[in-house]
Amino acid sequence: MPQTLSISLAENLPDSPAALVLYANGNGEMGPVAAGLWKRTGLDFSRIAKATGFSGRPGHTIDIAAPTGLDCDRLLVLGRGADGEGDNDAAWSDRGGSLYAKLDAVGVPDAAVVLDEPGLTPHLVGALGAGARLRSYRFEKYRTRRKNGATHPATLTLVVAKASGMQSALGDALAVADGTILARDLVNEPANLLGPSDMADVANTLADRGLSVEVLDETQMKALGMGAILAVGQGSVRPPRLVVMQWNGGKKGQPPLAFVGKGIVFDTGGISIKPAASMENMKGDMGGAAAVLGLMQSLATRKAKLNAVGILALAENMPDANAYRPGDVITAMSGETIEIISTDAEGRLVLADALWYCQDRFKPKAMFDIATLTGAIRIALGEDYAGVFTNTDALAAKLQQAGRASGEKVWHLPIGPAYDKLIESRFADIKNQGGRLGGASIAGQFLSHFVGDTPWAHIDIASTAFGKASTETNTSWATGFGVALFDRLIRDGYEDGV
Ligand code: BES
Ligand code: MN
Ligand code: ZN
Repeated sequence: MPQTLSISLAENLPDSPAALVLYANGNGEMGPVAAGLWKRTGLDFSRIAKATGFSGRPGHTIDIAAPTGLDCDRLLVLGRGADGEGDNDAAWSDRGGSLYAKLDAVGVPDAAVVLDEPGLTPHLVGALGAGARLRSYRFEKYRTRRKNGATHPATLTLVVAKASGMQSALGDALAVADGTILARDLVNEPANLLGPSDMADVANTLADRGLSVEVLDETQMKALGMGAILAVGQGSVRPPRLVVMQWNGGKKGQPPLAFVGKGIVFDTGGISIKPAASMENMKGDMGGAAAVLGLMQSLATRKAKLNAVGILALAENMPDANAYRPGDVITAMSGETIEIISTDAEGRLVLADALWYCQDRFKPKAMFDIATLTGAIRIALGEDYAGVFTNTDALAAKLQQAGRASGEKVWHLPIGPAYDKLIESRFADIKNQGGRLGGASIAGQFLSHFVGDTPWAHIDIASTAFGKASTETNTSWATGFGVALFDRLIRDGYEDGV
């Protein structure tokens, strides 16, 4: 785990924080505690606001050094926005992110933040804390020269009226942020240092949180007839693995929710080799599996009240004397035969076996897969939305709702029999590529052959998993997209016997 911001709650102001942070609107209206502290400085709010152009909008700051009457080096007043404006998780998480960025820019080691506005719910305080921790994430373990240079804020104290009611909401929100951070760490990690069995090892470390973890190796996969994932991995010296994680926080015997992640630790394209430009990004082709791992860690940490299964389909796609080829016919665990057109359409193959295995073994109430599956989704949606494809429209609606609330946005795109014509094979039941047009939907339709009658949704995160411009809550290459989305979906629709 990298060094990230430590966050705690308090009902009283800590002694001499390096920075003291208050929230205000453009008129200088603050919560009662904040207003009392401001009063001690004897400063004229409206004159300062006018002189600095402070309008109270989120992102606006008044920064005062060594204020009279207060025991701190810096007094920061941050814009809280108009009443009721953006009072959701995503907005407060952004607020936490920009708070961290401000503290980092000012260069203070610790800060106390007064959050005493009436109506500020535990949930939103949690979102602010989570946003600050997410923003504090940096992937610097392989820099030998800059490591001990810059110092960053290390601790944040959130000063609230009643800490007891906030503790569990903050704890839950931080559990989700830490799951996102785990996913980012795995996606940022280079493929020479993170193969299929290394990812399985990370899954195994979660066993002490109460998750059960099984790792299927090649022999076991062969016995199960998993010809698709085995074909993808056969060109690599690092053999595939299928990881099965279970969290049983719900009623005994209640069917689980299932999450299946594409975990290609590196995607060269195989014999259908990719062009060299940007191929280094394909170390992130396990972003789906990373999100599932991060989610399972979050669920176990916050002791979520449901039964959940997480499956990681791990393999490396390499060209090699033993690699699978275009024209090969393989048999998936479902019994369906697949003609390989492109060895670069490997994600749908590993998922075919993982999805089939999942529904066959666990009979889940609903099954979700998450995968950096197609370049086509990037063309269709850009980098702010992931694509959703489903055999059950109600699941897409729930995911879109969860996306709006969490800030990890998704958009519903079609699958259906119309796309089957494009993946008819001359030699087998189905082929793994159907041309350039509608590539993301074709991939989704391919997957739908391997889910049986299970309500299922596929999320294509090739658009959102990595490489985006920085946001308020992330400055790293990897985003960890999917952890917060699934967690919100679970909380809003599947927990506490909902
Ligand atoms: N891993 C890639 C998709 C991808 C591309 C993810 C860019 C992230 C960024 C996937 O395995 C792939 O190669 N897809 C092919 C499918 C095609 C051969 C049918 C694609 O999208 O070109
Ligand atoms: Mn590929
Ligand atoms: Zn891939």
